Amino acid sequence: MKHQIYRGDCLIRMKELKENSVDCTISSPPYFNAKKYCGEDNNIGNNKDYNDYLLKINEVIKELYRTTINGGIVCWNTSPVLDDGKRIGIPFDTHQLFIKAGFEFLEDIVWVKPDGAAKLRCGGWIQNKGRPTTWHANINTEYIMIYKKTGIREPKTFEPITMHYSIMPKDLLTCTWHINPETNKRYHDAPFPYELAKRCILLYSYPGDTILDPFCGSGTVMKVAKDLKRNSIGIELSEEYIEFIKEEIGFYQKKIFAQEEYIEK
Ligand SMILES: C[S@@+](CC[C@H](N)C(=O)[O-])C[C@H]1O[C@@H](n2cnc3c(N)ncnc32)[C@H](O)[C@@H]1O
Repeated sequence: MKHQIYRGDCLIRMKELKENSVDCTISSPPYFNAKKYCGEDNNIGNNKDYNDYLLKINEVIKELYRTTINGGIVCWNTSPVLDDGKRIGIPFDTHQLFIKAGFEFLEDIVWVKPDGAAKLRCGGWIQNKGRPTTWHANINTEYIMIYKKTGIREPKTFEPITMHYSIMPKDLLTCTWHINPETNKRYHDAPFPYELAKRCILLYSYPGDTILDPFCGSGTVMKVAKDLKRNSIGIELSEEYIEFIKEEIGFYQKKIFAQEEYIEK
């Protein structure tokens, strides 16, 4: 399988990808200004203006439509964020952009984290002895929105799901996935859990397909794609993370992974 790492701004580098060349995208863009990822100006997350953030995300979505094969899939992980005490509904705003770009809406999967992983928001309500209108939920969920480019895919051979799960996770049959957040933050502050990427790849791609992550971070999606015998393309702005991606996908152990082809662009 082939694994391609593109350094730099995905708004620029995605233009180098061929039309109708990606079978499935799995990605988590910066959530507006929710975290400090790195200092680069072109980091989509370093933005004080939400409308400008949406304009940039819209450019990425349009490129996703161009590069995705007919019938191909985008799995888009985001969550509402707080900005100056106000809630901003990122998944709901980007949903409109996906539809405008021409994608069909397939699923809204709610990623449920354990209660202990929730961001605390109901402290004031407790201090106020439960005064009505002061309640805010502790946030323990994110969204995985699934979109399809119009068209029908040619079926390919695949491995039965039982090859990947000896016991089927019950929640895999529902739209609420109970998955612990990734605790290994050695490489990145906001990495995908392996299991989340695994589910998206198994549900929405065939072995031999090409999986894209335009906001590759520490390279979780590329790593899982490699483990599940898919090709991968990752784009990442931060030089620091590029090194992590290379470690994660075995770039420096080419002899061990002799059957894999690694390309850095
Ligand atoms: C939420 S993180 C992705 C984490 C990733 N899913 C993982 O498993 O590690 C978003 C990533 O987007 C990167 N990023 C931000 N703006 C970018 C841009 N314009 N082009 C490419 N990458 C960008 C950030 O450096 C950050 O690593």
